[in-house]
Amino acid sequence: MAHLFNRNVLVGVSGGIAAYKSAELVRQLQELGASVRVIMTRGAREFITPLTLQALSGNPVHTELLDPEAELGMSHIELARWADVLLIAPATADLLARLATGRADDLLTTVALATAAPLVLAPAMNQQMWRDRATAANVATLAARGCKLVGPASGEQACGDVGPGRMVEPPVIAAAVAGIFENGLLDGRRVVITAGPTREALDPVRYISNHSSGKMGYALAQAAVDAGARTTLVSGPVTLPAPDHVRVLQVESACEMLDTCLELLPECDIFIACAAVADYRPGAVAQQKIKKGPDEINLKLVRNPDIVATVAAGRERPFTVGFAAETHELLKHAREKMLRKGLDMIVANDVSDKSIGFNSDNNEATVLWPDGEQVLALSGKGAMARQIIQLIAQRLASGEH
Ligand code: C5P
Repeated sequence: MAHLFNRNVLVGVSGGIAAYKSAELVRQLQELGASVRVIMTRGAREFITPLTLQALSGNPVHTELLDPEAELGMSHIELARWADVLLIAPATADLLARLATGRADDLLTTVALATAAPLVLAPAMNQQMWRDRATAANVATLAARGCKLVGPASGEQACGDVGPGRMVEPPVIAAAVAGIFENGLLDGRRVVITAGPTREALDPVRYISNHSSGKMGYALAQAAVDAGARTTLVSGPVTLPAPDHVRVLQVESACEMLDTCLELLPECDIFIACAAVADYRPGAVAQQKIKKGPDEINLKLVRNPDIVATVAAGRERPFTVGFAAETHELLKHAREKMLRKGLDMIVANDVSDKSIGFNSDNNEATVLWPDGEQVLALSGKGAMARQIIQLIAQRLASGEH
């Protein structure tokens, strides 16, 4: 069943009578699990108030491109990055024309240019305007660029005409948006993903850990499920909801994470190590709470096992993917790490840049494999996860690993 859990859907509403249906559409998208933000054109605001869509979406509605206050809240570039998909419904003849020519003369068209997310269009207009050759040419241009068109439907129109141009009903549009995230790239494959931090106990109440949010690992699990894989997350303690249809096995320490992964190995075709595993753990866990006492105490730490390297060194090893967070000489160090750990692929992140990586919603990375590499542009972690899953599927399909 198609769904939109953990998806950010940016809804653009342009100025046609069908704009009144956008309210129901926002609700339908949310029912499928999406987070929704709305951009309205000036024309749209003649038909329906921003307040309606703000109340339904639970977020302020975005309307102006050059409004300093709005840009302070969430700039057009942030909106463009936030979106996992941009859905424009209704898309008027004028909006299709502006998109087709690449104009950026209001917030909606600017975001449409600035986003790497897929674009879904639900046209709505008078039947003669839809049939006009100019509109037909614009639609053909947009379709050739990869935009997905949903509708229009045929029937009686608000203006009294009968013919093609009615916006299709909101449930159909919402289902079409959900459908674009489903692909069969990893049909039938079994994927295990480690995510989040580990906690290394010092005593019954204290531990050593790190700030990993688990967002990237959870986004990868979502992308793997959408690609048709049977997906298991081996997750350290995080506050994220489990993606639908993903089995989540909760662990705390690195040793527990390793044990769980090794148990899963006989049923694993692809292993993705995304967890921020603590490199060291306390040499001994105190049975009782360590009492405050001297000014200084020493902690003895011992090395944790390297989970991904252990998996990669196994006899029946899965296709194994690791991550490398580096502050300098990113690609050199990442490639060394891939070889040292015996990986098939590594995702290299520059963590000297605070706007990406740990805890942030955006990510920028280079994916490396033994005889190639690909840069993934800055995007939301959802979009990045889908690109990584796509590359894994390509490598598996090429059989060159
Ligand atoms: O060695 P480093 O921690 O930089 O390597 C990062 C990669 O190795 C990540 O994929 C991480 O999940 C994995 N790793 C692991 N077990 C460890 C340490 C790192 O699986 N003990």
